[in-house]
Amino acid sequence: MSAKTLGRARGPLQGSVSVPGDKSVGHRALLLGTLAEGTLSVRGLSGGQDVASTRRCLEAMGARFSESPGLLRVLGVGLRGLKAPKGPLDCGNSGTTMRLLMGVLSGQTFPAELFGDASLSGRPMERVAAPLRLMGADIKTTDGKPPVRVSGRPLKGIRYALPVASAQVKSAVLLAGLYAEGETVVEDPFGTRDHTERMLAFLGHPGPLRSEKALTVPGDPSSAAFFAAAAVLVPGSRLTLSRVLLNEGRLGFFTALQEMGARVSWSRGGVHARETVGDVVADHGALKPLRLAAERVPGLVDEVPLLAVLCAFADGESRLEGLGELRHKESDRLAATAAGLTALGGRARVDGEALVVSGPARWTGGRVETHGDHRLAMAFAVAALGGAGPGALSDA
Ligand code: S3P
Repeated sequence: MSAKTLGRARGPLQGSVSVPGDKSVGHRALLLGTLAEGTLSVRGLSGGQDVASTRRCLEAMGARFSESPGLLRVLGVGLRGLKAPKGPLDCGNSGTTMRLLMGVLSGQTFPAELFGDASLSGRPMERVAAPLRLMGADIKTTDGKPPVRVSGRPLKGIRYALPVASAQVKSAVLLAGLYAEGETVVEDPFGTRDHTERMLAFLGHPGPLRSEKALTVPGDPSSAAFFAAAAVLVPGSRLTLSRVLLNEGRLGFFTALQEMGARVSWSRGGVHARETVGDVVADHGALKPLRLAAERVPGLVDEVPLLAVLCAFADGESRLEGLGELRHKESDRLAATAAGLTALGGRARVDGEALVVSGPARWTGGRVETHGDHRLAMAFAVAALGGAGPGALSDA
């Protein structure tokens, strides 16, 4: 794949930006809309490949969608309406697709196989398979990774305490719980994102899932984060990110930015489909270093590479703790973030599960390896806008 050259911003960033719909909410709208009775009208769905992967897998099992400009109708087939796919299900690059589907497939009456791209094929799946097996599921992973084979079985409810901070594991168990006899309870001491719980409640759970409703997916705060960060770094900037998802479990990045002294604020505009939505405003300003405790990581887990980039612009040493889960994302984001910063002339090192970043960096520019990981590419593109370049990104 081609390398992309990156330069600094040519002037202040000003105006208002609408980012694509939240990816986590989008997956759940398609999945739970399919398992409901009725038609769910979805606006603002992310046009990215991950949500498309979920759609494709569901279509391969008989789900139906009708599309018109700006609107996707999910024609629900009901909890028992999925059919055996003709071949293996391609989850692409999307861990959420694979892990949530493992939960749904556990309760079906047919077998299915899930596979993904090179990145997804390296990611751990036993963390999902293990609790599902406790419910009675028949799941085989390949040395703990994809491809994953799931044979539908009668399930029983369990009480399960999450051993890892993963909303995907939690969601897989809850989705299997829709098919289980008795109650399923997941204890989540980490406070991971709760979009599955909210979407279930929106569609009528507990009780039959009914989708005669309309839903506009709020903007993805994990995408808005890049624009907010760019505004903070580029002198004279002020950006408004409009209609962003402001779920408490997703605000960690913006809260951390405020602690660093950045002029970032948000206002809650209302609640839609059980999720809070509102605008975020970010202005240019100087940054102080950050101390981030491990328990705050679930609230900004996808934003850590970007946060580390910002720390490199701050005046002093930042320490971000408890980043072990970053090793299991689309790439080893812990190692790759430190390597990327170092490649551009920054000072960053991994210390166990912590990332230590010393700022302000004396940037030299350089070539950053993205490992095909979208969040690394975006984080380092923002670094270059802020003056860390000229840079080049592999696999941009
Ligand atoms: C997600 C949960 C998080 C996050 C991912 C999306 C979700 O992963 O990193 O981008 O939609 O449930 P984990 O469940 O592995 O923490």
